[in-house]
Amino acid sequence: PLRLRRSRRGALACAAALTQDELKKEAAWKAVDYVESGMVLGLGTGSTAAFAVERIGNLLKDGTLKDIVGVPTSVRTYEQAKGLGIPLATLDEQPNIDLAIDGADEVDPNLDVVKGRGGALLREKMVEMASKKFVCIVDETKLVAGLGGSQDAMPVEIVQFCWKYNLQRLQNLPEVSGCEAKLRMDGDKPYVTDNSNYIVDLYFKNPIKDAHAAAKAMEGMEGIVDHGLFLDMVDVCIIAGKGGVEVKE
Ligand code: 5RP
Repeated sequence: PLRLRRSRRGALACAAALTQDELKKEAAWKAVDYVESGMVLGLGTGSTAAFAVERIGNLLKDGTLKDIVGVPTSVRTYEQAKGLGIPLATLDEQPNIDLAIDGADEVDPNLDVVKGRGGALLREKMVEMASKKFVCIVDETKLVAGLGGSQDAMPVEIVQFCWKYNLQRLQNLPEVSGCEAKLRMDGDKPYVTDNSNYIVDLYFKNPIKDAHAAAKAMEGMEGIVDHGLFLDMVDVCIIAGKGGVEVKE
């Protein structure tokens, strides 16, 4: 949407269309409307979730929110939330989460999503599965007709042990046929997750035919820790786009 902004001379000027970051912030702030004092919150990871964490921290500071406990989904989010003074706990300490807010990499029309391009998929899935409500926040660039359709990575977290063996097995899995599997790198070394695992990114030429079948097949493979398909998990999806903010349930 176009914003009206005060110019230096005090007149109302029409600002340019919102940037992608501003859209992410709009979705994040809308999600924070679901937060109530006393809640245990799952705190997501990524640039969109970071706007929500920042907002929660500021509302705690100014007294609008009270008695919040956050359960972070990554070391990165733990550090951000700690810096903002948000009281924190682990899933061991707070296994019943009222509400989780997190971004996504792809969202399909059923609100099934791909997550984990930021590398936090395992903790995100654990925290979001433990949440009564999962609010997913995205800008409209994340919308796809079918998962895998963005032609960008669908991450799979694997153990380090014999990673080439598991990369090959993933690539040859009939349920994800036609994908190209690549070990995620961090410079010249493999990328290591917060849980000391590696990530194999799957790249699809076409959307995955049956995401449930693909998820099930990967879950049955020893050495595969988790995958970025978050199916039947999202309760509310907040999508910020040029035409405004849409809430889908
Ligand atoms: C991290 C994630 C993120 O939520 C996802 O990658 C979206 O990130 P961003 O909001 O920066 O686009 O799953 O593991």
